[in-house]
Amino acid sequence: MNTCRLVTEDLYYIGADDHRIDLFENIHPLSEKGVSYNSYLLVDEKTVVIDTVDWAVVRQWIENIRGVLGDRPLDYIIVNHMEPDHCAGLEDIVLNYPNIRIISTEKAFLIMNQLGYRGLEGKDIIVKEGDTMNFGKHTFTFVEAPMVHWPETMVTFDVTAGILFSADAFGSFNALDGRLFADEVDFDRDWIDEARRYYTNIVGKYGAHVQALIEKAKPLLPSLKMICPLHGLVWRKDFGYILDKYIKWSTYTPEQNGVLIAYASMYGNTEQVASILAGKLVQKGMTNVVMHDVSRSDVSWLIADTFKYSHLVLASVTYNLQIYPKMHAYLEDMKCLNVQKRTVAVIENGSWAPTAGGQIKEFLNGMKQMDILNEDMTIISALNDAKLLDLEAIAEGIMDSMKQ
Ligand SMILES: Cc1cc2nc3c(=O)[nH]c(=O)nc-3n(C[C@H](O)[C@H](O)[C@H](O)COP(=O)(O)O)c2cc1C
Ligand SMILES: [Fe+2]
Ligand SMILES: [Fe+2]
Repeated sequence: MNTCRLVTEDLYYIGADDHRIDLFENIHPLSEKGVSYNSYLLVDEKTVVIDTVDWAVVRQWIENIRGVLGDRPLDYIIVNHMEPDHCAGLEDIVLNYPNIRIISTEKAFLIMNQLGYRGLEGKDIIVKEGDTMNFGKHTFTFVEAPMVHWPETMVTFDVTAGILFSADAFGSFNALDGRLFADEVDFDRDWIDEARRYYTNIVGKYGAHVQALIEKAKPLLPSLKMICPLHGLVWRKDFGYILDKYIKWSTYTPEQNGVLIAYASMYGNTEQVASILAGKLVQKGMTNVVMHDVSRSDVSWLIADTFKYSHLVLASVTYNLQIYPKMHAYLEDMKCLNVQKRTVAVIENGSWAPTAGGQIKEFLNGMKQMDILNEDMTIISALNDAKLLDLEAIAEGIMDSMKQ
C-alpha cells in the first residue's frame, strides 16, 4: 500500500519515515523519533519525481509512486542532491520506469558516475543556474546551491505554484509520523531543537553558502507559497520564523542571550565548579543557562546549543598535559563547523600541571571572532574558598559582557 499525502492539488508527498536508524551519517545519534527521507511527485502533463530516498525506504517509495501513477509512465526525476540518503533509489526508479529522464547538475552526474549507479546512461538532462523546464501547467527553474550541503547541490523552484524544493536546507531530524506541514505541530516547542541540531551539524560549516543561497532566493520570496525540504516538515506559512533561524545560524549569530556551560570532569570537582557557577548566574538574573557534561552529551547536541547561546563556559580538567579528549573533540568540531562570534569563559583544572586552559584559549584564538573573557580560573584539584572569588569574578564578567 502507498503512504502518500497530497501536498497541493497535483503534488504528492511520496517519501517515508525511518525509525530504525541509530546514527545519521553514521555519526549523529537519532532519537526514537527517527528521520524522514522526503520525495515529491508532480502529476502534470508530464510526471516528475523530485529526489529519491535512502536505501531504507526505497521499496515504500516505489510503492508510493505506483500508488499515485497507477499505469501512467514516469517522465522525469529531478536530483537536487546526490548524497545517498536522497539518491539511493536511482537504479530502482530506472528499473521500474526505463524511459525516465534524469534532470540534475553536471557535478551531480559526475558523483552519480563515481557512485557506480548502473543503467543511467543516456538518460541525463544537465541543467544549470537559471534554466527552466515546463511540464505542462508547471514551470520549474533550477538554482545552484553549492555546498548546501554538497558541491553539486541545487534547489528547484516551481514558478507556477511558488514551491521551493530546497534540498537539505530547511530540513530537520524527526520522522513525520503522519504529519506533513510545520503548522501541524508545535514547531517551536517540539521540533526546533532537532531542526537546529540537524542544520548546525550537517550544514553549519557552510554558513556563507547558505547566505549566498538566501540572497539568490530573495527575489522568489514574494511568490513563495511552500518550502519542501528533503527531511522533516513542509513549510506553507510562517516563513519568517524559519528564515530568521536560518539567517541567524548561517551568520553564526546567537539566537538567545544565554550561557552554555560545557564541562569535562572525571571525579566531579570540575563539575562542582560548573554547578556553582550556574547557580551564581541564575542568582544574578541570568536564568537562561544550560549545562552539558561533555562525556555525556553527544557532541551534536553541544554544537546545537553552541549555535543557540551567546556565551560559553568551557571548564576542563587537564589530561596527560592536554585538554580532556571529549572537550577537545567538541572544540575540534566547533572549529570545523566554523563557529564564531561567541563570548567564552575558560576554567581549567589539574592536580600537578594544569595546562588545559591555555590550550583551550589557543584553540579559540584560532577561530573567528571569539571573545575570551579576561576572568578565568585555575583549580588545583578542587575548589577552595580563595578560588570562590575567581568564580564570582567569572560570573560578574559574564553578566557585564551581556550588558554591552
Ligand atoms: C589519565 C590522567 C591524566 C592526567 N593528567 C594530568 C595532567 O597532565 N596535569 C594535571 O595537572 N593533572 C592531570 N590529571 C589530574 C586531573 O586533571 C585532576 O585530578 C583534576 O583535578 C580532576 O578534576 P575532576 O575532579 O573534575 O575530574 C590527570 C588525571 C588522569 C586520570
Ligand atoms: Fe545532504
Ligand atoms: Fe539529507
